[in-house]
Amino acid sequence: MKMELDYKKYAELARRMGAEGCVLLENRDQALPVRAGECVSVFGRIQCETYYCGTGSGGLVNPPYVVTILEGIEAQCRINEELKQIYKDWLTAHPFDVGKGWAQEPWSQEEMPVSRELAQKAASQSDIAVVVIGRTAGEDQDNKAEQGAFYLSEKEEMMLQNVCEAFKRVAVVLNVGSIIDMSWVERYQPAAVLYSWQGGCEGGNALADVLTGKVNPSGKLPDTIARTREDYPSAGNFGDPGENCYAEDIYVGYRYFETFAPDKVLYPFGYGLSYTSFSCRPVSCEVEENQLKLSVNVENTGDTAGKQTVQFYCCPPQGKLGKAARNLIGFAKTQELAPGESEVLNFEVDLSALSSYDDSGKTGFTYSWVLEEGEYGFYAGFDVRSAEKIGSWIQHQTIAVEKLQQALAPVKAFDRLTPGKMLPDGRYQAAYEPVPLRSYSLDERMKENLQKCVYKKHDEKYLWQDVCEGRVSLDTFLEQFTDEELACMTRGEGMCSPRVTPGTASAFGGITDHFQSYGIPACCCADGPSGIRMDCGAMAFSLPNGTAIASSFNTALVEELYSYLARELVKNRVDTLLGPGLNIHRDPLCGRNFEYFSEDPLLTGCMAVAQLSGMHPWNVTGTIKHFACNNQEYRRHTTNAVVSERALREIYMKAFEIAVRKGNARSIMTSYNPINGIWSASNYDLLTTILRKEWGYTGLVMTDWWADMNNDNDAPSKQNTAAMIRAQNDIYMVVSDAASNSAGDNTMAAVEAGTLSRNEIVRCVRNICNVMLKTNASAGHRATENLSVLNQPEFRSAIQIGQTYELNEERINLDLPSTINRGTRIVYTIHKKEAGSIGFGYRIHTVQESEVAQVPVSVFANHELVKTVSLKGNSSFGEVITLGAEENLTIELFFGDNGMFVDELYVARG
Ligand code: BGC
Repeated sequence: MKMELDYKKYAELARRMGAEGCVLLENRDQALPVRAGECVSVFGRIQCETYYCGTGSGGLVNPPYVVTILEGIEAQCRINEELKQIYKDWLTAHPFDVGKGWAQEPWSQEEMPVSRELAQKAASQSDIAVVVIGRTAGEDQDNKAEQGAFYLSEKEEMMLQNVCEAFKRVAVVLNVGSIIDMSWVERYQPAAVLYSWQGGCEGGNALADVLTGKVNPSGKLPDTIARTREDYPSAGNFGDPGENCYAEDIYVGYRYFETFAPDKVLYPFGYGLSYTSFSCRPVSCEVEENQLKLSVNVENTGDTAGKQTVQFYCCPPQGKLGKAARNLIGFAKTQELAPGESEVLNFEVDLSALSSYDDSGKTGFTYSWVLEEGEYGFYAGFDVRSAEKIGSWIQHQTIAVEKLQQALAPVKAFDRLTPGKMLPDGRYQAAYEPVPLRSYSLDERMKENLQKCVYKKHDEKYLWQDVCEGRVSLDTFLEQFTDEELACMTRGEGMCSPRVTPGTASAFGGITDHFQSYGIPACCCADGPSGIRMDCGAMAFSLPNGTAIASSFNTALVEELYSYLARELVKNRVDTLLGPGLNIHRDPLCGRNFEYFSEDPLLTGCMAVAQLSGMHPWNVTGTIKHFACNNQEYRRHTTNAVVSERALREIYMKAFEIAVRKGNARSIMTSYNPINGIWSASNYDLLTTILRKEWGYTGLVMTDWWADMNNDNDAPSKQNTAAMIRAQNDIYMVVSDAASNSAGDNTMAAVEAGTLSRNEIVRCVRNICNVMLKTNASAGHRATENLSVLNQPEFRSAIQIGQTYELNEERINLDLPSTINRGTRIVYTIHKKEAGSIGFGYRIHTVQESEVAQVPVSVFANHELVKTVSLKGNSSFGEVITLGAEENLTIELFFGDNGMFVDELYVARG
């Protein structure tokens, strides 16, 4: 494998990805593409302030550049310069509102009022209007069913109304994290509507490629767009601070709409237009030795080259369990087909993939994956609604394809949705049935016969290298550490641990001096799902967000793109990216939908497999997160997901299962929330019964940052690592000092009390070490040294020049920065009379709404990073650091996010 990271190729791939992720929902009278020589009027402030990603850990990348929508269009089309100037002037007077603190940016920005006169003048000056609607998204808060959030603001409505009245051809572009209300399409009837999502630093170019027809759109909706927000089946059970009952059960997204309410759909799952037309003809539909084989012929029947995605759905028999009328069982995308060209797409799947999970015993096979008797219909087409039947297969007898045991069951009674009577139009009436509750003792289940692990000093000190080179087994190696020493490995250090790449989220493994004396490497974790987050301001490429990637339905492209991200991880000595996020888009208001892929678990799982397959050959990986049910950001630490075993297995855990079984996932992050009363980070059924025993997972599991844990029926606590270790959540993220147990966890107290054994600690440490053995850190980062980096873009964020000071006195106070935003960089120059070290003192604080806010500042001396400090929540910090001996010294401060305040800055002699 060529050890080369060529940023030019990386950018080209990211651009292709962004373009393939664009979903065209309307295109009346071929309003798009913009023809050569036409003049475009671009409306909406976000043309200049384009969202390349969301906020929080999923967005804090420092990209070398961001191509805005305006820049992208301008590079390929003639634009209305007068209108552009009007926007530029208005933006100077109405700067972007960054909000107050970490992940607190408002969901939208105030829009410039567009009067009828302005719209009409622009119409007389140009051929087509592009109207940009923008929304950010982010963690720790949800979108709201309000104007300027899920709905358009008044000014956006006014802009649309006036522009659509003035122009015949209007293309509305949605630069948003995830879907928003679309009822305005009927109101204003713009000729074209296009979701471009958040496209990373090449987003503006990618969008322009689609607008101009350089790339024919081929993206498909990864979510159903319903008529109103209230139409989503989760609407009544979302947003509660305490608990949400997943009463809609498995009927999430199109599974609900196609079964119960097809009339409530505005744009179906899988929908997306092209500038050409295609036909889909069934070729064969066979079952051979438990394998379903489908094949269809796709032909480009139009006059422009383009790609098309065929989706295969199954309509299983209702049987005793009740089923969704459509279930995605596979998809395939053609190559670019020239007009008249066709391609046969083949698809194979094991029949067991058509089974349903019986958590009630109705079929006679309790806690089993079951194929109920009856007809299984197969559909193929270009979206869920229009897919046509291409064949069927009869299962003559109900069988269990896998018999399991009850696990992760609810303890609180509630009724769940199930199909009732079939109505004459083919819809099902909604009926409700009680959910089966937990009927076993978790305590009994947790009493395991574990491999016995002893503490034993060997004559020889075995080193990590001995394990790597097979001279000693991992178990023998671990014998030499005391329980207390091993407990340190169950702690991750961060944020911005000095043991690993500056500004990253955490270090794990060799994070004590003692471990390092055995050669155990410290491994590095960095956010996030769409680019590497390094809070010290280091540059990284920014990729299209999760929803955009899923919309491409192009797993080969995703894999290729992530092989580049993998090289960037190698370059920066990062062992695991904290992503992708595999939570299901249960409700369109979830704040983190932008990071996640889809409402469908198969599509989600396939995207994860593609990303992991791109990364693994480079000995880096992705940490799939947040396992499981992080479906709401509001009160994400406490909201209990009350959900049936069936919905967990078929919907909420399914993508993780696919990533484990097919993508060989090695690293998993648990979610903050409890599931059926037990916090994920200490959930034995989730992490041991299901993940490890059923799915055969051998990798590591880490908590989300500063997560809570509990025992069955106990209150949550951040110190209850004994419960975490027992469940096989191997690492607590994050503490400031693992060796001294700075977070005061209860691991050793539990060992002393006899409620936690060395065997259980070793089991976690073994899980961690097995993953570490596959890292570049373990191989001494030789891969980084062998990587040649080509065409690296220039990167330096805007610098404010602070004052120059002569250090004549003992101490000088430096001028404090007036405003600090994300990316602010201030440089002070200090002249000293003579060489000799000086002390640099600083005191900082943050004011944050969120207790998990992570606000960093980095100190550089003569352009070398000295350290990055990350403040958590509402907190303050101060220290004096000793800096360089040179006569002239520059001290540079870089602020990685909003919401930091500097209280004092000084330099002092000696
Ligand atoms: C997020 C995680 C992220 C972690 C580290 C948390 O707030 O939920 O997804 O990886 O922070 O930044």
